[in-house]
Amino acid sequence: MIRLDKYLCEVNIGTRSEVKELIRKGRVQVNGVVCQSPDLKIRETDRVCLDQKELVFSEYHYLMFHKPAGVLTAARDKKQPTVMDYFKEYPGRDLNPAGRLDKDTTGLLLITNDGQLSHMLLSPRHHVPKTYETDLAKPITEDMVKSLEEGVDISETEPEPVTAPAKVEVVSPVKILLTITEGRFHQVKRMLLAVGNEVVGLKRLSMGSLTLDPSLPEGEYRKLTEEEIRELLVYKKG
Ligand code: URA
Repeated sequence: MIRLDKYLCEVNIGTRSEVKELIRKGRVQVNGVVCQSPDLKIRETDRVCLDQKELVFSEYHYLMFHKPAGVLTAARDKKQPTVMDYFKEYPGRDLNPAGRLDKDTTGLLLITNDGQLSHMLLSPRHHVPKTYETDLAKPITEDMVKSLEEGVDISETEPEPVTAPAKVEVVSPVKILLTITEGRFHQVKRMLLAVGNEVVGLKRLSMGSLTLDPSLPEGEYRKLTEEEIRELLVYKKG
């Protein structure tokens, strides 16, 4: 059982204060009867409607987080701040980051309890594109762009296959947008090192259909819109 106002928040109707306002205005019905008590306990079998439209409770949560620098992509760490520290108060359970960004990388991180979606987005077999705004130590050359686009050898101690072809958009001599379809350890940094350059700043702008909301400040999150969720769930179908 869950309180009516919490239920409405969890089905993405609005914030706690917004849903309380909807309840107060008499726009919410439970089993066909207008309900103006935000603390009414809702059972799984109850039919909850907003303006006569039935709401569907989803067990899944999808959140867009703008990761700041200096934070580990981990569930918890004894000494250092982690991305999940930002979700301590969030009502959804079993939330996890879909993939990893390095401690100094900023940008888009999907936080979800939909493990199957995370798997589809991250599995190298599915080639989901991820775009990084990449600041460089040295001006990019045509040869570097060509190599990145064709694939580079980033192996260190163990042999590894060359990287899959990437897309490069040159924004300025020292800034590129690099789109890769794999997610190997420190991949972007290693790709730039392999072509004789160096990453001095890295920010993920998109992952598949999901793009970092430019109005979302670093260190904050928001729920995905219904359209963003619908577009992402296409990946779950494979
Ligand atoms: N590639 C990297 O090198 N670091 C990241 O955080 C993400 C991709």
